[in-house]
Amino acid sequence: MNTSEFIYKSSEKNIENLTVAWQTPSNIALVKYWGKSEPQIPKNASISFTLNNCNTKTKIEFSKTNTLQSPEFELYFEGKKKDDFKPKINKFFERIKEYCPYILEYKMVIHSENSFPHSSGIASSASGMAAIAMCLMNLEKELNPSLTDAYINQKASFLARLGSGSASRSIEGPLVVWGEHPKITGSSDLYGVKFPFNVHTVFEDYCDTILLVDKGEKQVSSTVGHNLMHDHPYAENRFKQANDNLEKLSEILQNGDIKSFISLVESEALTLHAMMLTSNPYFILMKPNTLEIINEIWEYRKETNSNVCFTLDAGANVHLLYPQNEKETIENFIKETLSKYCQKNHYICDNVGFGAQKI
Ligand code: DP6
Repeated sequence: MNTSEFIYKSSEKNIENLTVAWQTPSNIALVKYWGKSEPQIPKNASISFTLNNCNTKTKIEFSKTNTLQSPEFELYFEGKKKDDFKPKINKFFERIKEYCPYILEYKMVIHSENSFPHSSGIASSASGMAAIAMCLMNLEKELNPSLTDAYINQKASFLARLGSGSASRSIEGPLVVWGEHPKITGSSDLYGVKFPFNVHTVFEDYCDTILLVDKGEKQVSSTVGHNLMHDHPYAENRFKQANDNLEKLSEILQNGDIKSFISLVESEALTLHAMMLTSNPYFILMKPNTLEIINEIWEYRKETNSNVCFTLDAGANVHLLYPQNEKETIENFIKETLSKYCQKNHYICDNVGFGAQKI
C-alpha cells in the first residue's frame, strides 16, 4: 500500500486567511461495502451511483496561527454551533494530519448544511466528510498551485475514506468504484475511482427516489455493523460474492442489460441486510414498511413489466431506482401506492450526479 504520495510536501507559499466552500453529493451503493480492516480498508470492492440533489455544503474559514498540538476548529451545522458532531470530525482530523500537516497551522471555522432534512435517516457522513476533504484540498492547492485536478480528486477521496469509507465515493461521479478489483482498471483500496468503462445510455441518467420510511436515528451504526463482520460465519463468502457481483455489474453497466441489473442490485441490498440478520449480536434495520414497499415493487413489476427496482443502505429507507423514461409512471406509482408507507408521506427525488462542486 503506497500512501506516501499523499503526504503533503511543504511549500514556500504563505497564506494567512482563506475561506473556501464546496458542495459534495451523497451516493448510493449498488454493490455494497460491508466489512473493513484498519485503516478503513474495505474487505471487498464496492460501486455506487453518485447522487445529485442530496448533498452537503461546507464552508471552512482558515486563519493562520502558531503551530498547534492538535487540530482546532469550531463547528456550525445549519447555522448553529454543534459540539456533539465534533468528536467524529476531530477523529477524522487526527487521522489525516499526517497527510495534511497544514491543518495544524490554521484555526478552522466550519459551517455545514445538508440539502436533505437532518432527521431523514439519510446518512450524511459520506457527503459531509467528502466536503471537508475538498475544502482541505482547496487550501492545499492554494499552498501548492502545481497540484493537478486528478491528484486533488484522488487525495480528497483518500482523505474522505479515512473519515467514512463510503465518503471515498462522494468526490466524483456518476459511478465510482472503491476497493481494489482485478477487472476495474486503476481501482484501489485507498480511494475511489470513476468507473473506467463506457456506460450504456440507459444508466447515464438513472433516477433514485428515496422513500423515507424511518427518519429516526438508527439503533446500530454502520461502524458497529462493519465490525460485526470480523467474526461473521458468512463473511468470507460475502466478500467473494461482492467482488463477483462487481464484475458482473461492470458488464451490465456497459451492455445495458437492465433485467440483470435489477436482480443483482436487489440481491445486493437483501444480502447486506442478511449479514445484519446473521451477525452476533443480530439486528434488523428494516421496518415493516420497508417490506411493504419491497412487496409493492415486486407486484408492480409483475403487473407492468416496469424496470423499477430497489436498493437499501444501512437503514429502513428504500431507494427506488429506475430509468429516466419511466419517470412519469413511477412518480404516479409512488404517489398512489408507495408514499403511504413513508413517514409523513415524505420522499426525495434524486438522480445520478457528477460529484463535488466549488461554491
Ligand atoms: C451500507 O461508509 O457509513 O451504506 O466507513 O464506518 O463510516 P464507515 O461506514 P459507512 O458504511 C456504509 C455502508 C453502506 C454500504 C455502502 O455505502 O457501500
